[in-house]
Amino acid sequence: MMLLALVGLTLIAVASEAVILPIRHAKFHTAEQSTLPAKRSFEVGKDCFLKDGQPFRYISGSFHYWRQPPEYWEDTFMKMRAAGLNTVQTYLNWNLHEPEPLQYNFDGEVDIRRYFQTAQKCGLLVVLRPGPFIDAEVDMGGLPYWLLRMNSSMQLRTSDPSYLHYVDRWYRKVLPLIHDLTYANGGPIISAQIENEYGWVGSDLVYKEFLRDLTKELLGPDIVLFTTDGPVDSAVVGGRVDGTLTTVDFGAGANVTHNFLDVERKFNSDGPLVNSEFYPGWLDHWGEGWITVDWETVVMTMQQMLQLNASFNTYMFYGGSNFGFVAGSNTQDNDGMVPVTQSYDYDAPISEAGDLTVKYMKIRELFQKYSPGPLGPVPPSRPKTAYGKVHLQYTGSLFDHLETLSAEGPVSSPLPLSFEVLKQAYGFVLYRTQIPFNTRDPSKLAVDTLHDRAVVFLDRKPVGILSRTAVVHSMDIYAEAGQTLELLVQNEGRVCSGPINDMKGILGNVSIDGNNLTDWQAFPINLPGFPDNDPQPFAFKARKVRSDVELKRPAFYRGEFYVEVAQDTFLQFDGWRQGYVFVNGRNLGRYWPVQGPQKTLYVPGVFLFEDGINTLELFEVESAPCRHHGQCFVSFVDQPYLNGTVTFRSGTRNPFAV
Ligand SMILES: *[C@@H]1O[C@H](CO)[C@@H](O)[C@H](O)[C@H]1NC(C)=O
Ligand SMILES: *[C@@H]1O[C@H](CO)[C@@H](O)[C@H](O)[C@H]1NC(C)=O
Ligand SMILES: *[C@@H]1O[C@H](CO)[C@@H](O)[C@H](O)[C@H]1NC(C)=O
Ligand SMILES: *[C@@H]1O[C@H](CO)[C@@H](O)[C@H](O)[C@H]1NC(C)=O
Ligand SMILES: *[C@@H]1O[C@H](CO)[C@@H](O)[C@H](O)[C@H]1NC(C)=O
Ligand SMILES: *[C@@H]1O[C@H](CO)[C@@H](O)[C@H](O)[C@H]1NC(C)=O
Repeated sequence: MMLLALVGLTLIAVASEAVILPIRHAKFHTAEQSTLPAKRSFEVGKDCFLKDGQPFRYISGSFHYWRQPPEYWEDTFMKMRAAGLNTVQTYLNWNLHEPEPLQYNFDGEVDIRRYFQTAQKCGLLVVLRPGPFIDAEVDMGGLPYWLLRMNSSMQLRTSDPSYLHYVDRWYRKVLPLIHDLTYANGGPIISAQIENEYGWVGSDLVYKEFLRDLTKELLGPDIVLFTTDGPVDSAVVGGRVDGTLTTVDFGAGANVTHNFLDVERKFNSDGPLVNSEFYPGWLDHWGEGWITVDWETVVMTMQQMLQLNASFNTYMFYGGSNFGFVAGSNTQDNDGMVPVTQSYDYDAPISEAGDLTVKYMKIRELFQKYSPGPLGPVPPSRPKTAYGKVHLQYTGSLFDHLETLSAEGPVSSPLPLSFEVLKQAYGFVLYRTQIPFNTRDPSKLAVDTLHDRAVVFLDRKPVGILSRTAVVHSMDIYAEAGQTLELLVQNEGRVCSGPINDMKGILGNVSIDGNNLTDWQAFPINLPGFPDNDPQPFAFKARKVRSDVELKRPAFYRGEFYVEVAQDTFLQFDGWRQGYVFVNGRNLGRYWPVQGPQKTLYVPGVFLFEDGINTLELFEVESAPCRHHGQCFVSFVDQPYLNGTVTFRSGTRNPFAV
């Protein structure tokens, strides 16, 4: 009675101030209300969501805006729509929007407003996962690297005030930018997640409540808040928070009734059943076998969820690419790690290059059965072109270009400094010192806590590789007093799950036969990353190769090629070892054919200049396949080759499937 009376009062107020007063309680549909402007509402109902007061179930797919050029977003949304999805789910990747403290970027490749508005135009609702931690197999799980230098005792993903200060500042920047895009305000965003699978690592109630209250304050009370955790009681208990919807996640082949009815229902007694991450494939790591999941299991598990009237999100429906230095790593025992590949294809229904797969068609057939009307026509896959060989010329070594590439360097210090202290987010730092004493023959060079990989040079001659991934922390060297020792250290991507305070560089001491080396110089290497709203090729000119040693040092190679019609294509790196590739100045990411399994990198057609000359540059870290005259090449092919054999680890299957 009280509520009805209040509603009555609201209506009177609305009648006189119809323009400005938002109506809150959509559940009360009365005759009077129908004469008012249509009220948009999205809420939790019994066993389902309520959209504008009507029972609603979402069928969603994940697609992260930073993993595809904006020119293709609409095409991907239309392909999702045509498969029978009504919703898209994305994270916000903090680290790309605030690369350094208070330096914000919401343009071009990370224009989130354009992304949400395009989704809405294509008829999709949006499930938002602001994080702040997102995992997503991106560097540091989406947290900006600079948090690691702000305060060394900061406890990430907890209620530590030092951490909350930056989270608060970020949320107050980003959420007001999209406040008008919530469903109640006329936009597509129906719900927002609190943290991300938090129960796997923590249970800090103050932290969860802080995020819940801040999200509600900034996005308004009309948005559905939810948590997502693995389908085991302990994880859900750690991650959930009162006043939000508890959801779970699990993949193809999992026990759907167990996960929903035995686990989720314990904490969500009569709301909609939701699987926020249903895995139709899996991610991949350098050095591990390529993982696929067959469509039969995917469709079977989807059907089981549909029969229970559950809402679910397919993670990923479109995986895309990890351009530049976007990819993170996963941990192994004893400070080991495995870096995530550049491709985030995920064996998803829509391939990395936007192509429709058999899995897509089978899923569409299933969703058609549950769709009120016929699904629209399927947009075609984009045509691909094999542009063929591009000959590359040597344009000088890293050492030749050190002044250009490390304008801020060198930084001198008694002991080696981390990337974070050097304000070097990604890529490479060259560390240099003089060997002050004569050594035994041979002697042992050791690096204590190397993150992650170093090519070692004595007087500019490469003498070996140390690697956290390969668990090689020391090597024999033959050195003399006065020789220059250099280590080109590569950040292979910050760890994105578990303990995520993964600083990069040389974190302990470098020693020879147990004697710690001091008096270091560090040269942070400035390479373009992602996003890059003004890509520019390097200005390095072709040079003569004077000796084969030059081809075995980190060096740059450049080629040009004419493109008549710009189409999607793939770059293949036969004979090359490891490095980064730049197309018209854009950092596509790491190539590493000798490691595998990924052998080709996807090149979106929109990165190419049509009817014009295009530039291709490689920064090869180890050794180039060029003979004496600098003649070497890479090839553009028309299909991806992602499942190459790997030398040192066999494939691991999706651990969350069952
Ligand atoms: C660093 O964080 C810790 C833990 O929150 C806090 O006690 C300390 O005061 C902070 N230090 C600085 C310099 O902000
Ligand atoms: C799935 O879980 C249900 C409920 O816990 C159980 O009865 C059933 O045996 C399980 N099915 C399989 C195949 O394990
Ligand atoms: C699913 O929803 C339909 C329509 O409301 C209902 O008839 C059916 O019983 C529901 N199924 C389950 C398993 O809740
Ligand atoms: C590195 O070596 C120096 C000099 O031997 C020593 O003072 C310092 O404590 C060492 N650093 C670490 C992290 O052990
Ligand atoms: C050298 O550095 C290591 C750690 O990097 C440290 O454990 C050791 O104590 C140092 N040795 C000396 C003599 O300072
Ligand atoms: C890689 O995939 C292709 C195409 O699906 C298949 O023909 C080939 O056998 C696979 N290779 C390996 C090594 O799995």
